[in-house]
Amino acid sequence: MDRVRFAIVGCGGMGGRHLLGLKELHDSGMGNVELVAACDLRRDNAEHLADEAERLLGRRPGVYTDMAEMVARIPDLQAVDITTEGGSHHRVACAAFDLGLHVLVEKPMGITVRACNQILAAQARAGKVLSVAENYRRDPMNRLTRALLDADAIGTPYLYMDISSGSGNRIVITPWRHMKHMGGMLLDGGVHNADLMLYFMGDVREVYAQTRLWEKTRYRPDDIGGLKSFYERWAAEMPASIQATAEDTLVSVLNFSNGALGQWTQSYAGHGQGSGLRVIYGSKGSMTPGGSRNGVPPVLHLDGAGEIRGDALLELAPSYHLDDISARLYGTDSTSATRPAAYQMPFPDADRKLLAIENYEFADCILRGTNPEVDGRVGRRAVAICYASFESGVLNRPVTLDEIEAEATGRYEADVNAHYGL
Ligand SMILES: NC(=O)c1ccc[n+]([C@@H]2O[C@H](COP(=O)([O-])OP(=O)(O)OC[C@H]3O[C@@H](n4cnc5c(N)ncnc54)[C@H](O)[C@@H]3O)[C@@H](O)[C@H]2O)c1
Repeated sequence: MDRVRFAIVGCGGMGGRHLLGLKELHDSGMGNVELVAACDLRRDNAEHLADEAERLLGRRPGVYTDMAEMVARIPDLQAVDITTEGGSHHRVACAAFDLGLHVLVEKPMGITVRACNQILAAQARAGKVLSVAENYRRDPMNRLTRALLDADAIGTPYLYMDISSGSGNRIVITPWRHMKHMGGMLLDGGVHNADLMLYFMGDVREVYAQTRLWEKTRYRPDDIGGLKSFYERWAAEMPASIQATAEDTLVSVLNFSNGALGQWTQSYAGHGQGSGLRVIYGSKGSMTPGGSRNGVPPVLHLDGAGEIRGDALLELAPSYHLDDISARLYGTDSTSATRPAAYQMPFPDADRKLLAIENYEFADCILRGTNPEVDGRVGRRAVAICYASFESGVLNRPVTLDEIEAEATGRYEADVNAHYGL
């Protein structure tokens, strides 16, 4: 099989997770990429990822701190997988396109809508593939949720509710995630929620929102929970406390293009008991969507039929069939390989399988000349849902996604753009 020669740029927590995804892809027998370089502004991080790659894949990629030098030394390099912090995605992605490379970029696609627009312009100039690494929608349980919606299982969608709160005054994963010029958690985490809205419900037309920054001082957590193994190498670098500049709480009302309403509340300042609720109401019933990376299947409640879960869901979702790579990684046995109704595995296993799938799709698009599922326009739309909400909070009026994408208004993001000279 042809293999795309590519480099990981950004060798922190997520760079390491992408490497685990490459190992998973390699072991699946469907590997279509070859990791030839690791690049990071911090040489120690690039060296560490290269060491890990040698251990996992049996071959040590070259180590670089400068992308232009990397391309000069590896003339047949075809693509980069950008796993730097969101604040640098536009710089790295635009430089990669200008160097003639295909780009897979972690979410959020860009740090602002303007940053996304610059990435799209650079892609158009280069004529290369741009894929945004949205992993949640690729989870088989989200694929099943979508197939149930496609089959009209709950009837006409009326209402989408996505409500969550937690984290109190703790630093979430890394300090940069609480800084406005790095997007804040409402972009860094919220863009996943926005992408799932688009995936389940279709386009969003307009939002009205309010935001708050409650926890201005945040403290180092005793434990970062399930992500600990990915970030423990840098744990000693985390200060005891930081001053947050990004909003931590959002309440947003959404108008979907299909006429449905949405209610998106997300807070990273939730003290006490954390909570989370995602549910879709329609003209025939309601559905709790499946989980992301936990194997929890969707649950339906239909008028007159009560609760429907497990294998019974499959009868209501005839279009549910995983693609070859997803079936290879998640299928339990030959009969249910393309239609698993649930799966059971630890979070790190499910996590790296999704990253394997998004890497596989990216390379496949390069090899076949096809367009990825989450291309630049979809990636920008998810960022636009977040920024339309932030903008609405500043302007105190509803904001359409089209005006945000066209940069007809951008007061909230103006100082972020100024920070990067955008
Ligand atoms: N999809 C998911 O589930 C998921 C989960 C975690 C993180 N992410 C995303 O991955 C990205 C990275 O997050 P992280 O937690 O790994 O951050 P991190 O701080 O752990 O690592 C970022 C790395 O990028 C390097 N870097 C920064 N600017 C660079 C540049 N211009 N060129 C080369 N290297 C550069 C840093 O030195 C660091 O090693 C973010 O966009 C984040 O949103 C996605």
